[in-house]
Amino acid sequence: MAIPDNVTLFTTPRLTLRRFRTDDLATFLSYRSDPELSRYQDWTPNFSEDEGHVFIHQMQHADPVSDGLQIAIELTAQGILLGDLYIGPYQSRRNQASIGYTLAQPYQRAGYASEAVRGLLTYSFTILGLHRIVAEVDPRNTASVVLLERLGMRREAHHLQAYWDGGGWTDEYVYAILAQEWLRITEKQHA
Ligand SMILES: CC(C)(COP(=O)(O)OP(=O)(O)OC[C@H]1O[C@@H](n2cnc3c(N)ncnc32)[C@H](O)[C@@H]1OP(=O)(O)O)[C@@H](O)C(=O)NCCC(=O)NCCS
Repeated sequence: MAIPDNVTLFTTPRLTLRRFRTDDLATFLSYRSDPELSRYQDWTPNFSEDEGHVFIHQMQHADPVSDGLQIAIELTAQGILLGDLYIGPYQSRRNQASIGYTLAQPYQRAGYASEAVRGLLTYSFTILGLHRIVAEVDPRNTASVVLLERLGMRREAHHLQAYWDGGGWTDEYVYAILAQEWLRITEKQHA
């Protein structure tokens, strides 16, 4: 995995995973206003331009482990912003993080999210030195469940009616993977 300067965090075969820049604002606001993308997430699709500015400014300085960091997913060949990844503290637990991901609809079903999250797991374990990564998912979010299982994350819990989504109580799956498990998976792929 190539680890370049402090703006680009890591790269994958087709993608550059980097910090947000101010010229991402219009694209960021555009895909974040799509209610389909926030349907199973804990944010609402009504970012104002000012909030977008503040968000990008914060993400230019945020630390992935202590603050939580939203990472821009850029299609390297065209320089297009496709969506974003999230990595941040998990319940203040030592060396653990939770992750998230969002891809603008026109770029879904092309393997970009899987590629980006695969890169994020490698970055988390090899560069950040984390021990365990967790992803919490609404069981109705089939695309997300498929993605996590494709990468080899294990479903460790199914919490019933675990959070209020604004309209009702919603279940939650908890997926996790340990550093040694990810190492085994990636070693097998390279064997
Ligand atoms: C969750 C989400 C990121 C998944 O996106 P996705 O496009 O389904 O996932 P991928 O980019 O990995 O694409 C996988 C699909 O691309 C296909 N594909 C095409 N080319 C591919 C390639 N080169 N490599 C891998 N897969 C490829 C796969 O076969 C798969 O298709 P299938 O789902 O029909 O089997 C997306 O649905 C999303 O942004 N949802 C809204 C936000 C959200 O809910 N986030 C999760 C919160 S927990």
